[in-house]
Amino acid sequence: MKRGNIFKLIAVATLLSGCCAGPNDDSRNSLAESYKEYFPVGVALGAHTYAEPRADSLIRRHFNTITAENCMKPHHIGRKEGEYNFEEADKLIAYAEQNGMSVRGHALLWYQSAPKWFFADAEDGSPATKELIYERLRTYIHTVVGHFKGQVYCWDVVNEAISDKDDEYIRQDSLWYEHCGAEFIEKAFTYAHEADPDALLFYNEYSLVFPDKRDKTIRLIKDLQAKGVPIHGVGMQSHWNIEYPTREVLEETIEALGSLGLIVHCTELDVRMSPHWAGGQLTVEDYDNAVYEYSEELEAKQSAQYKMIFETFREYKDIVKSVTFWNLYDSQTWLDRRKGNIGRNYPLLFDDEMRPKECYYEVVDF
Ligand code: GLA
Repeated sequence: MKRGNIFKLIAVATLLSGCCAGPNDDSRNSLAESYKEYFPVGVALGAHTYAEPRADSLIRRHFNTITAENCMKPHHIGRKEGEYNFEEADKLIAYAEQNGMSVRGHALLWYQSAPKWFFADAEDGSPATKELIYERLRTYIHTVVGHFKGQVYCWDVVNEAISDKDDEYIRQDSLWYEHCGAEFIEKAFTYAHEADPDALLFYNEYSLVFPDKRDKTIRLIKDLQAKGVPIHGVGMQSHWNIEYPTREVLEETIEALGSLGLIVHCTELDVRMSPHWAGGQLTVEDYDNAVYEYSEELEAKQSAQYKMIFETFREYKDIVKSVTFWNLYDSQTWLDRRKGNIGRNYPLLFDDEMRPKECYYEVVDF
């Protein structure tokens, strides 16, 4: 063959391998296989994700536990009193069952998803009494937890009840707090345990790698434990960045949570490819307005951060019992869609084309 043709052949082969490199092409163990001696590895999903064939195969290859991204939240299941919309969640459960995946239930009570009917008198719209609100909460939790009994092995019972403000403990910008004070938290756990005594019950929160937020969360959990409230785990959301947490902070956080005698689940992991910080529902007010375009340097930092995070999780496998990513691949991330977001975040292990990134290899090669 002439030299020119050989070059052409090499060029075509390179092009083909590049354009066709997909999620299932690498010969390494999947995430779930790599971590089978450690913990299940999960992903938060909506029907729009697993209905797409390439995403479906990526999910089935890598994950053995799933979380409903939105379809188990109160505004989805319980838009009206007495009416329950389980359709999307039931499909997700069926998908999990077909593929041998476990399901984390998320979330029974969250101030950002608090339908107004809980708090108003059905007749005249005046504020409902606390007794009526608790009766409704009990019915709601019994119906939802009862519906998924045996299919959902753990629940984020209360999501994000702690305040980010220096001078505030339980967040007060919440209809639950406004109407019931902090007591709604223990009620929710009690009702969930009544409905399914076998389900593991979690308190789920963001920014636990910051000492103030962590201390308040620990105070809440100790308080619940002292009252005999059934709580089995704490969900560490884990919306992190390339600089924070450091290894030291992460170790300190896991140890502090583990010392409560609780299981820790990493429930919503993503590591944005920038030093921007905005945990959970925090807005972007802390941003320095800099736009971080993708660069190899940032990608290398992200890979190093993911490597450190998974090394730490492996080290603490007796405490960290599940790790779930919040969304599947970069262009799907909630971070790019949120109000006030600047630029892209590229926070996951798979790129826009669902190809494994450098950070993926750091996570599976150990
Ligand atoms: C929080 C919630 C999740 C989800 C993310 C953003 O962390 O717990 O359910 O809404 O925000 O998508």
